[in-house]
Amino acid sequence: MLLSQQQWLRQRLFVLGSLALGSLLFLATLERLQFIWPITVRLPPAGVSWHTPLHTLQHKQAHRLKLHREKLQMHLVIKQLPRAIIIGVRKGGTRALLEMLSLHPAVVKASQEVHFFDNDQNYARGIDWYREKMPFSFPHQITIEKSPAYFITEEVPERIFKMNSSIKLLLIVREPTTRAVSDYTQVLEGKERKNKTYDKFEELVIDTNTCEVNTKYKAVRTSIYTKYLEHWLKFFPVEQFHVVDGDRLILDPLPELKLVEHFLKLPSWISQSNLYFNATRGFFCLRYNFIFNKCLAGSKGRIHPDVDPSIKEKLQRFFHPFNQKFYQITGRTFNWP
Ligand code: A3P
Repeated sequence: MLLSQQQWLRQRLFVLGSLALGSLLFLATLERLQFIWPITVRLPPAGVSWHTPLHTLQHKQAHRLKLHREKLQMHLVIKQLPRAIIIGVRKGGTRALLEMLSLHPAVVKASQEVHFFDNDQNYARGIDWYREKMPFSFPHQITIEKSPAYFITEEVPERIFKMNSSIKLLLIVREPTTRAVSDYTQVLEGKERKNKTYDKFEELVIDTNTCEVNTKYKAVRTSIYTKYLEHWLKFFPVEQFHVVDGDRLILDPLPELKLVEHFLKLPSWISQSNLYFNATRGFFCLRYNFIFNKCLAGSKGRIHPDVDPSIKEKLQRFFHPFNQKFYQITGRTFNWP
């Protein structure tokens, strides 16, 4: 009996000790974040001034509540509209870019693609619906969302401009032919999952009547980056765009992430220690801290089908003049063929 009491006591002490240690670790982490990101903003809630005399009981209660929330700093946690958007391009590496940027403590991400500006039904739901889709954040943090369809949807630039004309726009691109193959591979996988057949890539990209590149095929059209960018430039100056090299993000992500940090005017934070190469996945994965690591889902980094080299060359020749124009407009040159 005495032994079981001792055991019970030891168990309780162990639980209490663990709780105390856990709390200490939690507070230490908070303290660390505060040290790195001092929360200097201490705004009174909207409509209440610190100098307002506390005439009524109601007002006093509100003030007490406000002080309580102030203590918890909870009123500082809000849902903010994005200050930067990854507008595309589909299969450029948009997910990897968003996940990697969210390693930065000043960045919070919308986990899902929101499709607010490209989907008429969602757009009709209004800006508050959009804000509601955003994660909670502190005022010093910036919210970023990604919806790759934005880049190729005609209505989107004007709609984003109406929300925030000074928003920062991130566009991640890959060598256009590789991107087209990646796009095809994604659709092919979807068809196979539904036990449906699908044409070969070579059959889709070449117009059988003319034997020329089939510009009606969406995977080809999406890779003509200038076509879409020129439309965006009717609404935003080129300085508001930052082009990310999606091929380099795969092989050596850090330099690309440093460029984005600079563009977003964020303090330099993301380092090599946040990224590690996972040989099994064949891609870089994310390291949040000494406990949490994460690789992207298996749907990112599919094996592409072999493509007839002559068709590949034909596509590359087709994209070449558009690429030259893209370099000229953006001021960023790639080693694309
Ligand atoms: P593939 O599946 O063709 O290889 P998106 O997120 O815009 O759909 O882009 C998907 C692409 O992101 C993938 O295309 C993959 O090559 C690329 N990518 C870049 N960095 C990656 C990473 N660290 N892990 C997985 N995929 C990554």
